[in-house]
Amino acid sequence: MELFEIVGGNRLKGAIEINGAKNSALPIMAASILVDGETVLRNVPDLADVRQMQVLLSRLGVKAQRDAEGALHLRVEDEMNAHAEYELVSKMRASVCVMGPLLAKRKRAQVSMPGGCAIGSRPIDLHIQGLRALGADFELVNGDVLLRAKKLKGADIFLGGPFGSSVTATANVMMTATLVEGRTVIASAACEPEITDLAEFLNACGARILGHGTPEITVEGVDGLTGTEHTVVADRIEAGTYMIAGAITNGDVELQGARLEHMQAVVDRLRRVGVIIERGEKGITVSSSRHLEPIDVTTQPYPGFPTDLQAQLMALLCLADGNSVITEKIFPDRFLHVGELNRMGAHLRKEGPTVIIEGVKRLVGAQLMASDLRASAALILAGLIAKGTTRIHRIYHIDRGYQHIEKKLAAVGANIRRLNE
Ligand code: EPZ
Repeated sequence: MELFEIVGGNRLKGAIEINGAKNSALPIMAASILVDGETVLRNVPDLADVRQMQVLLSRLGVKAQRDAEGALHLRVEDEMNAHAEYELVSKMRASVCVMGPLLAKRKRAQVSMPGGCAIGSRPIDLHIQGLRALGADFELVNGDVLLRAKKLKGADIFLGGPFGSSVTATANVMMTATLVEGRTVIASAACEPEITDLAEFLNACGARILGHGTPEITVEGVDGLTGTEHTVVADRIEAGTYMIAGAITNGDVELQGARLEHMQAVVDRLRRVGVIIERGEKGITVSSSRHLEPIDVTTQPYPGFPTDLQAQLMALLCLADGNSVITEKIFPDRFLHVGELNRMGAHLRKEGPTVIIEGVKRLVGAQLMASDLRASAALILAGLIAKGTTRIHRIYHIDRGYQHIEKKLAAVGANIRRLNE
């Protein structure tokens, strides 16, 4: 197994290229099940999760291959199988995104119900509720969700849950509705840029989707979708992670390809901390004033502050001049990084879905354990500024969502190495 070894203290300086978004590439790849002919996707990041989706799709009869330039070519070759098995789904929750496309195109979908997750309880009741509203019969068979439909029909669907909208439930219902007779209106839909990117891909294939990016999405069903070429949107969570890396090291970085308009809530909070963020020639420039102000933040569905940057922001606020408060409203138990940061000398106190952060003068290097994707990224950021050496174990969690993070950081001055245990 591999680990990261980081010697803290270097200021980051230079340009970092931002990749395409994992959370857009995965549902768009799943949407290829709906499409006749070839789909060509550009700017698909080289991540463990993307490779996992390729494996799942090939089991479902979709050939998924990269060409010499790195573009991903997808083509349905066999529609017999509609079963996404436990051993595949258990490796990656986003596998649930094949459920709607299978139901719409193959009239049945058998998908292993995703199990427990490090970031907290993640039911899929809204996915099932939405697909049943379109006319699917539902059964739970030996841990598998089994959906079947002789005839699906457009419907008005409310998709709001206890924590607000659901990103992948919106994706599943929207994808299914593209090939369902009649009009579907999704209320309390997720507004994330990844949903907009998926809708734009489907519309380029001939779908008729309106209102994407707003809480009400309308879909007019069509008879078929035809393959197209699409470039995946930039990863705002990867960009946010490097933004905080620049800020925590008092650095000066440019995030090439990052989209400022997708990061308003993040930029707003970081500016309150004292980070200087501007639109640059090729993306976004980030520098900081050495002095970090404490702030309060609550995570929310887009356009609010993203839960996927909560841990990284917490690492930064560990060094603020005073007390900050973070409230996690999407995944109330998403705090596995708290114990690890406290091992580095942070003063964090968890009270239910809230963490009180008492700012400290410095963090110190330590042996740490990665737990989930974003918590692990936060540990890297803390290691960049900590006194001495930090070693982070189980870094396979990080490779799921960040392409070559250690190379990108080293290229702008970080002292970070990938080592074998
Ligand atoms: C997506 O997950 C992202 N994953 C997550 O990113 C991200 O944290 C999350 O959205 C929130 O922004 C992908 O896009 C592949 P949700 P998703 O359904 O769609 C509850 C990362 O780090 N809920 O929007 O699974 C749920 O428990 C990952 O890249 C229900 O109650 O999240 C949560 O509290 C981690 N019933 C809230 O809604 C449902 O049927 C939002 O979850 C579905 C969700």
